[in-house]
Amino acid sequence: MEVHVTMLLCVVLVPLVSVARAKVPAMVVFGDSSVDAGNNNYIETIARSNFQPYGRDFVGGKPTGRFSNGRIATDFLAEAFGIKPYVAPYLDPTHDISHFATGVTFASAATGYDNATSDVLSVIPLWKQLEYYKGYQKKLSVYLGESRAKETISKALHIISLGTNDFLENYYAIPGRASQFTPREYQNFLAGIAENFIHKLYGLGARKISLGGLPPMGCLPLERTTNFLGGKDCVPSYNNIALEFNAKLSKLTTRLNKDLPGIRLVFSNPYDVFLHIIKKPAQYGFQVTSMACCATGMFEMGYACSRASSFSCMDASKYVFWDSFHPTEKTNGIIAKYLLKNALAQFLH
Ligand SMILES: *[C@@H]1O[C@H](CO)[C@@H](O)[C@H](O)[C@H]1NC(C)=O
Repeated sequence: MEVHVTMLLCVVLVPLVSVARAKVPAMVVFGDSSVDAGNNNYIETIARSNFQPYGRDFVGGKPTGRFSNGRIATDFLAEAFGIKPYVAPYLDPTHDISHFATGVTFASAATGYDNATSDVLSVIPLWKQLEYYKGYQKKLSVYLGESRAKETISKALHIISLGTNDFLENYYAIPGRASQFTPREYQNFLAGIAENFIHKLYGLGARKISLGGLPPMGCLPLERTTNFLGGKDCVPSYNNIALEFNAKLSKLTTRLNKDLPGIRLVFSNPYDVFLHIIKKPAQYGFQVTSMACCATGMFEMGYACSRASSFSCMDASKYVFWDSFHPTEKTNGIIAKYLLKNALAQFLH
């Protein structure tokens, strides 16, 4: 079965990203729903997607907890690095260290850099993801032996992808942070947490690290739907926040590469390619950008997407967005391919 699935995915993927031989022995992922493959299935939260119609284009039409109709960017990347066709969630009890040794995600949908963000829907905070990672390293040492485990960690690609929820689920949605911080101060607060997190990964032996930028989050269908005054167009203020925050992360990347000997930190910025897809959908074979495929395409995600799924579109590959907050598998694949070429290529050789 495993072999069959792998072959199938290779056939599908070869035109998208050519498969490389593994210079990166493992992929280790931290973040939010952009890279959660189902950790939230195992905790008490409503931020879930392990039911239909999620996963309807995944292997076997299986809803896994990925917030898409199919695979997410890290799945495409792991395949492109010649590792495996998908990255499994750490909390999945059907996998053990023999599987996780080559790839694992600690990500949790609805989380953020800020503890107050993960509190909103009781999901896994970033600090807890780091605690899980420490436990993972211990298991890896037992499984591979200490020196091979250390080598694996130093060569593994560590991916960090979060931040959208800090602004859209927390700062602009509920009282609290907005009374404590201006938008710019909040960006600095989050960038400080990102810096601290990278220092900690480095201290634990990680050397290859990808820090993800924010997407044009004013163009998510949910934000467009509520932009009555702006004619349901993208919300410029949210896109500007993403641009400003990305500029800070880019600077941080430059600085940390100077400060931390031996680190190879890259800034993986999806903003430009994502906005280009939204502005010029036909160039990528898309027909719909302002509404999502799932349900009415205006508001729904998670359980709401499931409840109203009879309204869902027939062919998700014509849509940029799967639900009101998350891209389709096709969009994920295009973004992964772009990041591989423009940010992560140095790790292929
Ligand atoms: C988040 O919470 C953890 C655990 O309580 C704490 O160690 C950490 O300092 C907090 N982070 C921030 C930025 O407050």
